[in-house]
Amino acid sequence: MKNFLNIHDVVNAEQLAQEAIAIKQQKFANKSIGKDKTMVLLFLNSSLRTRISTQKAAHNLGMQTIVLNLGQDSWQMEYEDGAVMNGTTAEHIKEGAAVISEYADIIGIRAFPTLTDREKDYSEYVLHKFLENVNVPVVNMESATVHPLQSLTDLMTIREYSKKEKPKVVLSWAPHIKPLPQCVANSFAEWMNHADVEFVITHPKGYELNEKFSGNAHIEYMQDKAFENADFIYAKNWSAYDSYGKILGDNPDWMITDKKMQLTNHANFMHCLPTRRNLEIADDVLDSAYSLVIKQAANREYAAQAVLKKILENL
Ligand code: CP
Repeated sequence: MKNFLNIHDVVNAEQLAQEAIAIKQQKFANKSIGKDKTMVLLFLNSSLRTRISTQKAAHNLGMQTIVLNLGQDSWQMEYEDGAVMNGTTAEHIKEGAAVISEYADIIGIRAFPTLTDREKDYSEYVLHKFLENVNVPVVNMESATVHPLQSLTDLMTIREYSKKEKPKVVLSWAPHIKPLPQCVANSFAEWMNHADVEFVITHPKGYELNEKFSGNAHIEYMQDKAFENADFIYAKNWSAYDSYGKILGDNPDWMITDKKMQLTNHANFMHCLPTRRNLEIADDVLDSAYSLVIKQAANREYAAQAVLKKILENL
């Protein structure tokens, strides 16, 4: 694997998920493969799980890691070609990224969308600016449109806990007070469309995802109906794609509760975290025995390790 930017860098998503499950049983089996190699993790946005799990994954493979909160620990970066840099930005991406690339064998980047400029966000502007200016592999640690490390983890977790070969997996929109990116939902949809599952998306009208990601998934506007016979409920808030970056209403009745989970086929509950309790997901779901959220977060380490191993094997 050269880069890990989205599902199109993966030959077989189901197989990679199985490799992550196998790594979990023997996480130090390849602790020499990354010896004398360095991964630099660049965060333009906050993170708990990605920051820690990706570093752990790199360490399990023998790599060293350097973490930089770009623009906080380092100079403010300028991305525009031809910019006259007489404002707040102090270093151009052309030098900044190229220099980081001199110190790194693999670079991880987290760069969220603006949620104001759809065209720029969906072109993956920041991620591509880095790609243009580095000469080492890049791992997407959540970009403007996708979060593939999370989605690989999600597929791995579904395979670990599924009692069926082809489970019914429901991605449900849930309420939030802030406009959030579509990237986790986009990415989850894209990976589920590559997996052997029955996939349904449920959300209030107006929250349709870009069809590039939702593909042929069945869209059900009635949440209760979507939950019927579900084996996995995956909840996430996202802002509108059509009315780009907007919240279209409060929709408090879309919060995931234990009562709604009772409509399912004894489904497991999943969420990428962080989540706002009793706004997006009720306490009685997050504290239940059927919630996988902590186990799912733990799997981030092994999913990242499967990806880094593939990249190291190709260096
Ligand atoms: N799920 C996830 O990516 O968590 P963080 O934003 O805390 O990294």
